[in-house]
Amino acid sequence: SAAEKGGYDYFMLKEIAEQPKAVADTLLGRIDASGRLSLDEVRIPASVLREVDKVVIVACGTAYHAGLIAKYAIEHWTRIPCETELASEFRYRDPILDQRTLVIAISQSGETMDTLMALRHAREQGAKVLAICNTNGSTIPRESDAVLYTHAGPEVAVASTKAFLTQLVACYLVALYLGQVRGTKWGDEILSVIRDLSEIAGEVEEVLETMEPVRELARSLADKNTVLFLGRHVGYPVALEGALKLKELAYMHAEGFAAGELKHGPIALIEKDVPVVVVVPSPRGRSVLHDKIVSNIQEIRARGARTIVIAERGDTAVHPYADHLIEVPATPVLLQPLVATVPLQVFACELATARGNEVDQPRNLAKSVTVE
Ligand code: AGP
Repeated sequence: SAAEKGGYDYFMLKEIAEQPKAVADTLLGRIDASGRLSLDEVRIPASVLREVDKVVIVACGTAYHAGLIAKYAIEHWTRIPCETELASEFRYRDPILDQRTLVIAISQSGETMDTLMALRHAREQGAKVLAICNTNGSTIPRESDAVLYTHAGPEVAVASTKAFLTQLVACYLVALYLGQVRGTKWGDEILSVIRDLSEIAGEVEEVLETMEPVRELARSLADKNTVLFLGRHVGYPVALEGALKLKELAYMHAEGFAAGELKHGPIALIEKDVPVVVVVPSPRGRSVLHDKIVSNIQEIRARGARTIVIAERGDTAVHPYADHLIEVPATPVLLQPLVATVPLQVFACELATARGNEVDQPRNLAKSVTVE
Protein backbone atom coordinates (compact mmCIF):
# COMPACT_ATOMS: atom_id res chain seq x y z
CA SER A 1 0.00 0.00 0.00
CA ALA A 2 0.96 3.66 -0.33
CA ALA A 3 1.34 3.92 3.45
CA GLU A 4 3.84 1.05 3.52
CA LYS A 5 5.83 2.87 0.89
CA GLY A 6 6.02 5.91 3.15
CA GLY A 7 4.62 8.21 0.48
CA TYR A 8 7.03 7.01 -2.21
CA ASP A 9 5.81 5.46 -5.47
CA TYR A 10 8.02 2.44 -5.00
CA PHE A 11 9.69 0.59 -2.17
CA MET A 12 12.94 1.03 -4.02
CA LEU A 13 12.69 4.81 -3.80
CA LYS A 14 11.88 4.59 -0.12
CA GLU A 15 14.80 2.24 0.47
CA ILE A 16 17.21 4.47 -1.46
CA ALA A 17 16.08 7.38 0.72
CA GLU A 18 16.54 5.33 3.90
CA GLN A 19 20.21 4.75 3.22
CA PRO A 20 21.66 7.41 5.52
CA LYS A 21 19.72 5.94 8.44
CA ALA A 22 20.55 2.36 7.43
CA VAL A 23 24.23 3.22 7.37
CA ALA A 24 24.08 5.03 10.71
CA ASP A 25 22.12 2.16 12.30
CA THR A 26 24.70 -0.35 11.12
CA LEU A 27 27.44 1.66 12.86
CA LEU A 28 25.40 2.27 16.00
CA GLY A 29 26.93 0.86 19.17
CA ARG A 30 29.90 -0.56 17.32
CA ILE A 31 32.33 2.29 17.94
CA ASP A 32 33.31 2.90 21.58
CA ALA A 33 34.03 6.21 23.32
CA SER A 34 37.74 5.98 22.48
CA GLY A 35 36.93 5.70 18.76
CA ARG A 36 37.84 2.01 18.55
CA LEU A 37 35.61 -0.74 17.27
CA SER A 38 33.83 -2.95 19.73
CA LEU A 39 32.42 -5.96 17.91
CA ASP A 40 31.98 -8.41 20.79
CA GLU A 41 28.95 -9.75 18.97
CA VAL A 42 31.37 -11.30 16.48
CA ARG A 43 31.83 -14.38 18.59
CA ILE A 44 35.12 -15.47 17.13
CA PRO A 45 37.81 -14.97 19.78
CA ALA A 46 40.55 -12.43 19.04
CA SER A 47 43.07 -15.25 19.49
CA VAL A 48 41.49 -17.08 16.54
CA LEU A 49 41.32 -13.91 14.42
CA ARG A 50 45.03 -13.29 15.03
CA GLU A 51 45.83 -16.70 13.56
CA VAL A 52 43.78 -16.23 10.38
CA ASP A 53 46.05 -16.48 7.34
CA LYS A 54 43.49 -16.23 4.57
CA VAL A 55 40.08 -14.63 4.11
CA VAL A 56 37.62 -15.89 1.54
CA ILE A 57 34.41 -14.02 0.85
CA VAL A 58 31.45 -15.78 -0.75
CA ALA A 59 28.24 -14.15 -1.92
CA CYS A 60 25.96 -13.67 -4.93
CA GLY A 61 24.84 -10.70 -6.99
CA THR A 62 24.95 -7.38 -5.24
CA ALA A 63 26.32 -8.96 -2.05
CA TYR A 64 29.19 -10.31 -4.17
CA HIS A 65 29.97 -6.77 -5.29
CA ALA A 66 30.14 -5.71 -1.63
CA GLY A 67 32.55 -8.61 -1.16
CA LEU A 68 34.74 -7.46 -4.06
CA ILE A 69 35.08 -4.05 -2.39
CA ALA A 70 35.77 -5.71 0.97
CA LYS A 71 38.78 -7.48 -0.54
CA TYR A 72 40.52 -4.14 -1.09
CA ALA A 73 39.77 -3.01 2.45
CA ILE A 74 40.77 -6.28 4.12
CA GLU A 75 44.03 -6.64 2.25
CA HIS A 76 44.94 -3.00 2.81
CA TRP A 77 44.21 -2.80 6.54
CA THR A 78 45.18 -6.31 7.58
CA ARG A 79 47.65 -7.55 4.94
CA ILE A 80 45.85 -10.92 5.07
CA PRO A 81 45.38 -12.35 1.57
CA CYS A 82 41.72 -12.19 0.66
CA GLU A 83 39.76 -13.54 -2.27
CA THR A 84 36.15 -12.93 -3.14
CA GLU A 85 34.29 -15.59 -5.02
CA LEU A 86 30.82 -16.13 -6.40
CA ALA A 87 29.15 -18.53 -3.99
CA SER A 88 27.77 -20.54 -6.90
CA GLU A 89 31.29 -21.27 -8.17
CA PHE A 90 33.07 -21.75 -4.89
CA ARG A 91 32.66 -25.34 -3.80
CA TYR A 92 32.84 -26.83 -7.26
CA ARG A 93 36.50 -26.00 -7.63
CA ASP A 94 37.55 -27.75 -4.42
CA PRO A 95 38.89 -24.60 -2.73
CA ILE A 96 41.80 -24.81 -0.29
CA LEU A 97 40.49 -24.10 3.21
CA ASP A 98 41.56 -24.96 6.73
CA GLN A 99 41.21 -23.88 10.37
CA ARG A 100 43.11 -20.68 9.69
CA THR A 101 40.77 -19.60 6.89
CA LEU A 102 38.11 -17.04 7.72
CA VAL A 103 35.19 -17.29 5.33
CA ILE A 104 32.83 -14.32 5.19
CA ALA A 105 29.38 -15.09 3.76
CA ILE A 106 27.46 -11.95 2.78
CA SER A 107 23.71 -12.16 2.28
CA GLN A 108 20.84 -9.75 2.73
CA SER A 109 18.18 -12.43 3.05
CA GLY A 110 20.28 -15.06 4.79
CA GLU A 111 18.48 -17.65 2.66
CA THR A 112 20.41 -17.65 -0.63
CA MET A 113 21.00 -21.32 -1.38
CA ASP A 114 24.28 -20.85 -3.27
CA THR A 115 25.77 -18.89 -0.37
CA LEU A 116 24.45 -21.39 2.17
CA MET A 117 25.98 -24.33 0.30
CA ALA A 118 29.30 -22.47 0.04
CA LEU A 119 29.43 -21.83 3.78
CA ARG A 120 28.48 -25.43 4.59
CA HIS A 121 31.32 -26.58 2.39
CA ALA A 122 33.72 -24.16 4.13
CA ARG A 123 32.76 -25.36 7.60
CA GLU A 124 33.17 -28.99 6.56
CA GLN A 125 36.78 -28.13 5.67
CA GLY A 126 37.31 -26.62 9.13
CA ALA A 127 37.15 -22.94 8.18
CA LYS A 128 35.52 -20.40 10.49
CA VAL A 129 32.51 -18.67 8.94
CA LEU A 130 31.38 -15.14 9.72
CA ALA A 131 28.04 -14.13 8.20
CA ILE A 132 27.18 -10.56 7.26
CA CYS A 133 23.42 -10.62 7.09
CA ASN A 134 20.36 -8.38 7.23
CA THR A 135 17.79 -10.92 8.40
CA ASN A 136 17.73 -11.93 12.04
CA GLY A 137 17.66 -15.64 12.69
CA SER A 138 17.80 -16.63 9.01
CA THR A 139 19.55 -19.79 7.87
CA ILE A 140 22.96 -18.38 6.90
CA PRO A 141 23.69 -16.74 10.28
CA ARG A 142 22.27 -19.77 12.11
CA GLU A 143 24.72 -22.03 10.33
CA SER A 144 27.72 -19.71 10.73
CA ASP A 145 30.21 -19.47 13.60
CA ALA A 146 29.39 -15.80 14.06
CA VAL A 147 27.32 -13.05 12.55
CA LEU A 148 27.57 -9.32 12.12
CA TYR A 149 24.09 -8.05 11.35
CA THR A 150 23.53 -5.16 9.01
CA HIS A 151 20.74 -2.93 10.29
CA ALA A 152 19.19 -1.84 7.01
CA GLY A 153 15.69 -2.82 8.14
CA PRO A 154 13.48 -4.89 5.85
CA GLU A 155 14.33 -4.51 2.16
CA VAL A 156 11.27 -5.16 0.00
CA ALA A 157 12.30 -4.07 -3.50
CA VAL A 158 13.94 -6.92 -5.37
CA ALA A 159 16.83 -4.68 -6.42
CA SER A 160 19.11 -4.26 -3.44
CA THR A 161 20.05 -0.73 -2.37
CA LYS A 162 20.20 -0.02 1.35
CA ALA A 163 21.23 -3.60 2.07
CA PHE A 164 24.25 -3.09 -0.20
CA LEU A 165 25.38 0.09 1.54
CA THR A 166 25.08 -1.56 4.94
CA GLN A 167 26.92 -4.65 3.68
CA LEU A 168 29.75 -2.32 2.71
CA VAL A 169 29.71 -0.71 6.15
CA ALA A 170 29.79 -4.16 7.78
CA CYS A 171 32.68 -5.21 5.52
CA TYR A 172 34.67 -2.10 6.44
CA LEU A 173 33.95 -2.78 10.12
CA VAL A 174 35.25 -6.33 9.78
CA ALA A 175 38.35 -5.17 7.88
CA LEU A 176 39.11 -2.43 10.40
CA TYR A 177 38.37 -4.75 13.32
CA LEU A 178 40.74 -7.40 11.98
CA GLY A 179 43.34 -4.66 11.63
CA GLN A 180 42.67 -3.45 15.17
CA VAL A 181 42.77 -6.93 16.70
CA ARG A 182 45.92 -7.97 14.89
CA GLY A 183 47.68 -4.61 15.18
CA THR A 184 49.07 -3.30 11.90
CA LYS A 185 51.17 -0.37 10.85
CA TRP A 186 47.90 1.26 9.82
CA GLY A 187 46.77 1.86 13.41
CA ASP A 188 46.40 5.63 12.99
CA GLU A 189 44.76 5.31 9.61
CA ILE A 190 42.30 2.80 11.07
CA LEU A 191 41.30 5.27 13.79
CA SER A 192 40.86 8.06 11.29
CA VAL A 193 38.81 5.91 8.90
CA ILE A 194 36.53 4.90 11.80
CA ARG A 195 35.97 8.63 12.35
CA ASP A 196 35.27 9.14 8.64
CA LEU A 197 32.83 6.23 8.66
CA SER A 198 30.84 7.86 11.43
CA GLU A 199 30.32 10.87 9.15
CA ILE A 200 29.42 8.92 6.05
CA ALA A 201 25.64 8.93 6.63
CA GLY A 202 25.67 12.71 6.23
CA GLU A 203 27.59 12.37 2.97
CA VAL A 204 25.12 9.82 1.61
CA GLU A 205 22.36 12.28 2.50
CA GLU A 206 24.20 14.99 0.59
CA VAL A 207 24.32 12.79 -2.51
CA LEU A 208 20.59 12.08 -2.25
CA GLU A 209 19.85 15.79 -2.18
CA THR A 210 21.59 16.36 -5.51
CA MET A 211 19.99 13.62 -7.61
CA GLU A 212 17.57 15.57 -9.82
CA PRO A 213 20.06 15.97 -12.71
CA VAL A 214 20.76 12.23 -12.55
CA ARG A 215 17.04 11.48 -12.91
CA GLU A 216 16.82 13.88 -15.82
CA LEU A 217 19.82 12.26 -17.49
CA ALA A 218 18.31 8.79 -16.99
CA ARG A 219 15.07 9.85 -18.68
CA SER A 220 17.02 11.20 -21.66
CA LEU A 221 18.65 7.78 -22.15
CA ALA A 222 15.46 5.73 -22.03
CA ASP A 223 15.70 4.54 -25.63
CA LYS A 224 19.38 3.55 -25.58
CA ASN A 225 20.25 -0.12 -26.04
CA THR A 226 23.33 -0.30 -23.95
CA VAL A 227 25.18 1.48 -21.15
CA LEU A 228 28.76 0.71 -20.17
CA PHE A 229 30.33 1.29 -16.74
CA LEU A 230 34.02 1.74 -15.99
CA GLY A 231 35.96 1.93 -12.76
CA ARG A 232 39.32 1.21 -11.20
CA HIS A 233 40.24 -0.11 -7.76
CA VAL A 234 37.09 -0.03 -5.58
CA GLY A 235 35.36 1.85 -8.40
CA TYR A 236 35.48 -1.33 -10.48
CA PRO A 237 32.99 -3.27 -8.31
CA VAL A 238 30.91 -0.07 -8.17
CA ALA A 239 30.81 -0.20 -11.98
CA LEU A 240 29.72 -3.85 -11.83
CA GLU A 241 26.97 -2.93 -9.39
CA GLY A 242 25.81 -0.03 -11.58
CA ALA A 243 25.55 -2.41 -14.52
CA LEU A 244 23.70 -5.06 -12.52
CA LYS A 245 21.16 -2.51 -11.30
CA LEU A 246 20.51 -1.41 -14.88
CA LYS A 247 20.03 -4.99 -16.12
CA GLU A 248 17.65 -5.84 -13.29
CA LEU A 249 15.58 -2.68 -13.46
CA ALA A 250 15.79 -1.23 -16.96
CA TYR A 251 16.25 -4.56 -18.82
CA MET A 252 19.02 -2.92 -20.79
CA HIS A 253 22.29 -4.37 -21.85
CA ALA A 254 24.82 -3.07 -19.38
CA GLU A 255 28.35 -4.11 -18.59
CA GLY A 256 30.91 -3.07 -16.03
CA PHE A 257 34.62 -3.11 -16.85
CA ALA A 258 37.86 -2.41 -15.07
CA ALA A 259 39.01 0.70 -16.93
CA GLY A 260 42.48 -0.77 -17.43
CA GLU A 261 40.93 -3.64 -19.38
CA LEU A 262 39.44 -1.29 -21.99
CA LYS A 263 42.38 -1.57 -24.33
CA HIS A 264 42.30 -5.38 -24.02
CA GLY A 265 38.97 -5.62 -25.79
CA PRO A 266 35.99 -3.62 -24.56
CA ILE A 267 37.14 -0.42 -26.24
CA ALA A 268 35.90 -1.98 -29.49
CA LEU A 269 32.37 -1.47 -28.14
CA ILE A 270 32.79 2.29 -27.98
CA GLU A 271 30.97 4.06 -30.77
CA LYS A 272 29.22 7.35 -31.23
CA ASP A 273 26.83 8.28 -28.42
CA VAL A 274 27.20 5.10 -26.34
CA PRO A 275 26.66 6.22 -22.75
CA VAL A 276 29.63 5.28 -20.58
CA VAL A 277 29.50 5.85 -16.84
CA VAL A 278 32.95 6.29 -15.31
CA VAL A 279 33.58 6.09 -11.58
CA VAL A 280 36.60 8.28 -10.86
CA PRO A 281 38.68 7.71 -7.73
CA SER A 282 39.65 10.64 -5.55
CA PRO A 283 42.46 12.81 -6.97
CA ARG A 284 43.93 12.89 -3.47
CA GLY A 285 45.04 9.48 -2.20
CA ARG A 286 46.22 7.34 -5.10
CA SER A 287 46.76 10.00 -7.71
CA VAL A 288 48.21 7.46 -10.18
CA LEU A 289 44.84 5.77 -10.37
CA HIS A 290 43.13 9.09 -10.88
CA ASP A 291 45.44 10.13 -13.72
CA LYS A 292 45.00 6.78 -15.45
CA ILE A 293 41.23 7.03 -15.39
CA VAL A 294 41.31 10.58 -16.70
CA SER A 295 43.18 9.29 -19.75
CA ASN A 296 40.66 6.44 -20.09
CA ILE A 297 37.87 9.03 -20.20
CA GLN A 298 39.77 10.97 -22.87
CA GLU A 299 40.24 7.78 -24.92
CA ILE A 300 36.58 6.81 -24.95
CA ARG A 301 35.42 10.35 -25.54
CA ALA A 302 37.73 10.67 -28.53
CA ARG A 303 35.86 7.66 -29.93
CA GLY A 304 32.51 9.36 -29.53
CA ALA A 305 31.26 7.97 -26.20
CA ARG A 306 28.90 10.10 -24.16
CA THR A 307 30.71 10.28 -20.85
CA ILE A 308 28.86 10.30 -17.56
CA VAL A 309 31.46 10.97 -14.93
CA ILE A 310 31.05 10.33 -11.20
CA ALA A 311 33.81 12.25 -9.46
CA GLU A 312 34.72 13.82 -6.17
CA ARG A 313 33.47 17.39 -5.79
CA GLY A 314 36.13 19.82 -6.98
CA ASP A 315 37.95 17.30 -9.16
CA THR A 316 38.40 19.79 -11.98
CA ALA A 317 40.73 17.53 -13.99
CA VAL A 318 37.73 15.53 -15.25
CA HIS A 319 35.55 18.51 -16.12
CA PRO A 320 36.75 18.99 -19.73
CA TYR A 321 35.94 15.36 -20.60
CA ALA A 322 32.63 14.93 -18.80
CA ASP A 323 29.50 15.27 -20.94
CA HIS A 324 27.60 14.80 -17.69
CA LEU A 325 29.18 15.33 -14.31
CA ILE A 326 27.86 13.75 -11.12
CA GLU A 327 29.71 15.05 -8.09
CA VAL A 328 30.00 13.15 -4.81
CA PRO A 329 31.52 14.29 -1.51
CA ALA A 330 35.16 13.55 -0.74
CA THR A 331 35.76 10.39 1.27
CA PRO A 332 38.82 8.26 2.00
CA VAL A 333 39.66 6.25 -1.14
CA LEU A 334 38.38 2.93 0.18
CA LEU A 335 35.05 4.38 1.36
CA GLN A 336 34.10 6.01 -1.94
CA PRO A 337 31.72 3.18 -2.97
CA LEU A 338 29.36 4.32 -0.19
CA VAL A 339 28.73 7.58 -2.00
CA ALA A 340 29.48 6.60 -5.62
CA THR A 341 26.91 3.78 -5.76
CA VAL A 342 23.96 5.95 -4.80
CA PRO A 343 23.68 7.89 -8.11
CA LEU A 344 23.80 4.56 -9.97
CA GLN A 345 20.83 3.27 -7.98
CA VAL A 346 18.87 6.43 -8.71
CA PHE A 347 19.89 6.25 -12.37
CA ALA A 348 18.68 2.64 -12.78
CA CYS A 349 15.46 3.26 -10.88
CA GLU A 350 14.58 6.27 -13.01
CA LEU A 351 15.42 4.46 -16.24
CA ALA A 352 13.14 1.59 -15.20
CA THR A 353 10.31 4.05 -14.62
CA ALA A 354 10.97 5.84 -17.90
CA ARG A 355 10.84 2.51 -19.74
CA GLY A 356 7.58 1.57 -18.04
CA ASN A 357 9.04 -1.31 -16.05
CA GLU A 358 7.86 -2.63 -12.74
CA VAL A 359 10.43 -1.14 -10.33
CA ASP A 360 9.91 -3.22 -7.20
CA GLN A 361 9.26 -6.53 -8.94
CA PRO A 362 11.45 -6.80 -12.06
CA ARG A 363 10.50 -9.61 -14.42
CA ASN A 364 11.98 -13.08 -13.83
CA LEU A 365 13.56 -12.15 -10.48
CA ALA A 366 12.87 -13.18 -6.90
CA LYS A 367 13.98 -11.29 -3.80
CA SER A 368 15.75 -14.27 -2.43
CA VAL A 369 16.95 -17.19 -4.47
CA THR A 370 16.43 -20.31 -2.40
CA VAL A 371 17.30 -22.78 -5.12
CA GLU A 372 20.75 -23.59 -6.51
C1 AGP B 1 20.37 -7.40 -6.00
O1 AGP B 1 19.81 -6.26 -6.54
C2 AGP B 1 19.83 -8.68 -6.46
N1 AGP B 1 18.42 -8.76 -6.43
C3 AGP B 1 20.60 -9.94 -6.16
O2 AGP B 1 21.78 -9.87 -6.91
C4 AGP B 1 20.97 -10.28 -4.70
O3 AGP B 1 21.91 -9.36 -4.23
C5 AGP B 1 21.52 -11.71 -4.62
O4 AGP B 1 20.54 -12.60 -5.07
C6 AGP B 1 21.98 -12.09 -3.24
O5 AGP B 1 20.93 -12.06 -2.31
P1 AGP B 1 21.20 -12.13 -0.77
O6 AGP B 1 21.99 -10.92 -0.39
O7 AGP B 1 19.87 -12.17 -0.12
O8 AGP B 1 22.01 -13.38 -0.51
